[in-house]
Amino acid sequence: MMKIEKAIIGGTGFYDPLLLEERQELTVETKYGSAYLLTGRYKGIPVAFLARHGKGHHLPPHRINHRANMAALKELGVTRILATTAVGSLRKELTAGTIVIIDQFIDFTKGQNHTFYNGEDGKVVHTDFTEPYCPQLRKCLATVMEKKEIPFVNGGTYITTDGPRYETPAEIKAFSLLGGDVVGMTNAPEAILAREAGLCYANLSLVTNFAAGISPHPLTHQEVVEMMNEKADLIREIFLETLLAIPAERDCLCGVKEEYELGQ
Ligand code: HPA
Repeated sequence: MMKIEKAIIGGTGFYDPLLLEERQELTVETKYGSAYLLTGRYKGIPVAFLARHGKGHHLPPHRINHRANMAALKELGVTRILATTAVGSLRKELTAGTIVIIDQFIDFTKGQNHTFYNGEDGKVVHTDFTEPYCPQLRKCLATVMEKKEIPFVNGGTYITTDGPRYETPAEIKAFSLLGGDVVGMTNAPEAILAREAGLCYANLSLVTNFAAGISPHPLTHQEVVEMMNEKADLIREIFLETLLAIPAERDCLCGVKEEYELGQ
């Protein structure tokens, strides 16, 4: 199998990287379960694409097997990941259609399987999250969008809930007071596992709606999908361009980790 160092993870409304040559569908078996992927080449570069909700979006957020997804990418040899997510906005100025390069998260999930370190192998690992997303990849994304004159917001805090329901207006008010900028149901577990696996990971979030209580109407999945569909080509273009622009050498600390024996 060809070694693939770069990957894209797509979410709601972003199910196919298109433009890949030598496309292949692949199911990778891992000790955490199986993951469904597409592989191919973009301008000669091997690329993996993973739809986090599975083939045909059959998994709700709280049932996504993030561990299998991340383990499968690692197994292929992936070290650099660009991920996209649809998000609700907690800020009036972040209107639908805004692209945000996330730089922090607050994790409110409780039901998602979000660590590789359960202590079964006698190891305890406390991973540093001072910089939750790869600074090198974030910079590459920003440079590509600046060059293409695509407007974006550089930095934002992503609140992750378990879903699958949307939030209450009271929750949104609380999240906003806590410093959240956008809200979604998938990012924290994915970012955590990428870092635990030593992989560089950056996220491009697309605001699809105002969050509950800020939006003048009840939220619908349809508005999320419609906005994502509208911007899918643009996000694809940004990601594929960025994959070409990523320097071969990593200048970040995403691959560095400390391990302790249990009981120490
Ligand atoms: N809340 C949670 N997840 C979302 C939203 C939202 O408003 N929009 C898109 N994903």
